[in-house]
Amino acid sequence: MAGPRGLLLLCLLAICLAGSRLVGGQKVWSRRCDVKTKFVTHIPCTVCPAIKKRVCPSGWLREFPEKISQDCRYEVQLGGSLVSMSGCSVGCWKDVVQKACCPGYWGSQCYECPGGAGTPCNGHGTCLDGIDGNGTCVCQENFSGSACQECRDPNLFGPACQSGELWQEGRPVSLWGPVETQLYNQPHQPLSQTSSLSLPL
Ligand SMILES: *[C@@H]1O[C@H](CO)[C@@H](O)[C@H](O)[C@H]1NC(C)=O
Ligand SMILES: *[C@@H]1O[C@H](CO)[C@@H](O)[C@H](O)[C@H]1NC(C)=O
Repeated sequence: MAGPRGLLLLCLLAICLAGSRLVGGQKVWSRRCDVKTKFVTHIPCTVCPAIKKRVCPSGWLREFPEKISQDCRYEVQLGGSLVSMSGCSVGCWKDVVQKACCPGYWGSQCYECPGGAGTPCNGHGTCLDGIDGNGTCVCQENFSGSACQECRDPNLFGPACQSGELWQEGRPVSLWGPVETQLYNQPHQPLSQTSSLSLPL
């Protein structure tokens, strides 16, 4: 009974590379998060005294410190029948580095998504990121624009695009600043005071 000696995915390691470059006069940030994967395989089970001389497949390194496992079995042809024998095996490994973009970065150059990598698509959509992505923002229901920065309905405003009032800097314009609020309220107060004063006369 020979145990499964297939490829083993041992660990994933992210290597981050950051940079920026000028594209069409604009500084564009790029960040790669390459993924390093360690693969492990074994030299096929064989007679124990022979294992020291066996080499790993090309491109693979022998495990160090060497761990010779003696629990494997190999088969030999003996007088017309297969006989299972106890033998030895040793591990081989190699690292494979796969180029990848950090989340919020796209394409072969890993450029930053519209709206910035911290808030891709201004938090109102999904950036098609990753090495195979094209950096397009797929906007939520009520948003539009290349970075989902606008309301789809031009008559709606506000952070959720649900308000009929015009918003600026995170507030409806009708509540804009204390000066405008006072100017709007003042004419009502003197009127009510005048009417209450005029009654006793
Ligand atoms: C980006 O990729 C998406 C999905 O693959 C595709 O629908 C869209 O047309 C692409 N946009 C551009 C500008 O290439
Ligand atoms: C989009 O806007 C419509 C109309 O104001 C609203 O009824 C709906 O709830 C909004 N959708 C989301 C996901 O906010």
